[in-house]
Amino acid sequence: MIGTDDRLTPTLPPAFERSDVAAPGSLAPLAQLADTGLEVPVLGGGRVRHVNLDVAASAPALAVVAEHVERVLPYYASVHRGTGYPSQQTTALVDQARAVVARHVGARDDDLVVFTRNTTDALNLLANAVPGDTVVLDIEHHANLLPWRDGARRVVVGRSSFAATLDAIDAELGRCPAALLTVTGASNVTGEVLPIGDLAGLAHSHGARLAVDGAQLLPHRRVDIAALGVDYLAFSGHKAYAPYGAGALVGRADWLDAAPPHLAGGGAVESVGIDDVSWKTGADRHEAGTPNVIGIVALARALAELERLGDDARTAHEHALTRRLHAGLAAQAGVRVIRGFDDLDDGLGIATVELDRGSIGLLAAALGAEHGISVRAGRFCAHPLFDRLATRSNGLRASLGAGTSVDDIDRFLAALAALIADGPAYAYDRAPAGWCPRVDDRPPLAFDLD
Ligand code: ALA
Repeated sequence: MIGTDDRLTPTLPPAFERSDVAAPGSLAPLAQLADTGLEVPVLGGGRVRHVNLDVAASAPALAVVAEHVERVLPYYASVHRGTGYPSQQTTALVDQARAVVARHVGARDDDLVVFTRNTTDALNLLANAVPGDTVVLDIEHHANLLPWRDGARRVVVGRSSFAATLDAIDAELGRCPAALLTVTGASNVTGEVLPIGDLAGLAHSHGARLAVDGAQLLPHRRVDIAALGVDYLAFSGHKAYAPYGAGALVGRADWLDAAPPHLAGGGAVESVGIDDVSWKTGADRHEAGTPNVIGIVALARALAELERLGDDARTAHEHALTRRLHAGLAAQAGVRVIRGFDDLDDGLGIATVELDRGSIGLLAAALGAEHGISVRAGRFCAHPLFDRLATRSNGLRASLGAGTSVDDIDRFLAALAALIADGPAYAYDRAPAGWCPRVDDRPPLAFDLD
């Protein structure tokens, strides 16, 4: 079959076609994104509608976010410094964005909202503020594993059930005091959603605080930090449909006010002498220099739009698509879905698979080059988790969001089935950067920068 036209119209695995996982019409995209309707070239000529199942890595902008940025740009000016009208508008936008972020995450009145570049930046900021040890799970993305100071970071290895993992965290916090327990809200590898409220209660019972890496969770589920008892929440705009380079750390002021400034420079100080500096407290202390105004405004606009779409509607949309994705993978011979815990049944729209045989990298490359389907392959910046759970060296992750449709899921499942059954239709070479078509006849992008 390889090389024939049949390969261009793959069908769903037969076992899946018989499955009872419905594809109701409501599973059209919930929101319009900047890439909605994008067509991409495929090998051999022609173009297909792009299927973006790499949303967990970086989500396209919501269309309303991109439009908002366009509207705001003419007023872009210096923030908290200028005297002109645009500068006043810019200052007001940043102040408003801070309030929207606080509202969206249910911040307490005395919490700080510090704007950062992304989750990694936010957690690095927090790491320099923790007055003691940090306990962390091995399931974390490197952003929530590496910032904690050497010698003060205590890693708990996850067990096969989350109940047993909670016991292990309990034991570690009881063995020796820690200032902070830090966990992901949802795994970027398995999509499993952790019971944050239980973790907050456990941390607090030992006199520790709880930080949550919300990079994956926040774009897909509402996280109310006051209601859940979360002390710090870090997240990124680029995963929350606002890829303009801003993120945030929200949480308790006292540690942040006592910490060294995250960046030293203008705006973070009350006064400066040659030999002494008086640093501000509050968010300003950590936001020296001109902030990423556009990124901050885009992030807040995205969160407001997620609120408008509705928490229940978003969850229902993603749950239905996720069930269909998992049902299709379960019906597919030769793949194994990676799970972290056998007793967590709530998950985001993320599925990572291993292949029984063959190359994941080649499979991912062929999905992109031959079928116009984007996924991620590798260990997903979560090496300890991946190496503990996986039997092979790489996995392939499909991840969905508000812009995903049933057709996207079915195209992915059908292409996966065809590639596993027949292999790629074209020849590929393994380059240092990954698998590449031996002859790539797709036109290169031509966005002139000059
Ligand atoms: N942290 C992102 C991911 O999981 C990049 O893919």
